Amino acid sequence: MKALHITAFGAEAALAELPAPIPGPGQVVVDVVAAAANPLDLKIASGVMSGFFPVALPYVLGTDFSGRIASPGPGWQVGDPVIGRLDPVDGGAFAEQIVLDAAQLVPAPAHLGLETAAGLPTAAATAWQALVEVADVHSGQTVLVHAAAGGVGSFAVQIAKLLGARVVATASGSGVAIAEKLGADEVLDYRKTDFASRLRGVDVVLDTVGGEVGTRSRQVLKPGGLLVTTPAPADGAAFVFHASDAARLAKVADLDLEVLVDRTCPLADGARALSFLAEGRARGKILLRVA
Ligand SMILES: NC(=O)c1ccc[n+]([C@@H]2O[C@H](COP(=O)([O-])OP(=O)(O)OC[C@H]3O[C@@H](n4cnc5c(N)ncnc54)[C@H](OP(=O)(O)O)[C@@H]3O)[C@@H](O)[C@H]2O)c1
Repeated sequence: MKALHITAFGAEAALAELPAPIPGPGQVVVDVVAAAANPLDLKIASGVMSGFFPVALPYVLGTDFSGRIASPGPGWQVGDPVIGRLDPVDGGAFAEQIVLDAAQLVPAPAHLGLETAAGLPTAAATAWQALVEVADVHSGQTVLVHAAAGGVGSFAVQIAKLLGARVVATASGSGVAIAEKLGADEVLDYRKTDFASRLRGVDVVLDTVGGEVGTRSRQVLKPGGLLVTTPAPADGAAFVFHASDAARLAKVADLDLEVLVDRTCPLADGARALSFLAEGRARGKILLRVA
């Protein structure tokens, strides 16, 4: 099977021909339809995450995928459409086939095309974890979502609205209209307006940018408000550590979420897709079409 792997940290990802995976007890093989790229793939490939995720080289990149069951297993029939998130230590989603425990899979949501559904696992489930499990966002609250046109942010806007919050978002350029369309009540173009001078009394900030954006976000919180961050642990912020969890992903897949797709590239163009992701300007998800 074809797979996109790295043979050294910092090396460009390359297409390789690898043996097809063989399922063990309780495992299934999935024919991958699409995979989604996440900033974590870049961090792992660079080697900076080796302390957290001790991956073995060569390493097939990718955690998020959609596909169809190729070999039956507990609870699954051949052909069933599924989505899932692999453990980052194992990787393996940027490949024609994946082997994994049957319990890690979730039925693909019926409201999305199977290719598009590959965009859900990490980004949508992280947004859910941050807003529901960490921040307990509820109706009547004001939530500031930074980078609302990005992968996590585009889902966070939708989830915060579903929870009944008033959503203020930051974005720039074409991202402003995108954030409005996703449901944000107010969108600040961060290149033109300083959110920290403009906003006060915010209950929850979701910071997916980090650095100064996180530091300055504390000024907009009301007393007792919560800053939740995803890029890296930061003083005074609740850090979300997203671990693969099929039960959580199943809940998120049941929501009527739109997957904002920036672009879809063939697996063979994976290295180029990752270079684009590294620019940090994506509008939603970057997908790799595998089948
Ligand atoms: N801790 C965890 O478990 C976990 C889980 C998921 C993600 N993460 C991390 O969370 C971060 C975000 O992930 P992602 O997938 O959402 O990234 P992404 O899709 O690559 O984010 C790109 C978006 O960020 C926006 N952006 C950049 N600078 C901005 C700023 N100063 N203000 C507002 N928006 C800005 C860009 O908009 P413009 O082009 O308009 O600038 C673009 O739309 C990454 O560091 C990722 O590793 C962590």
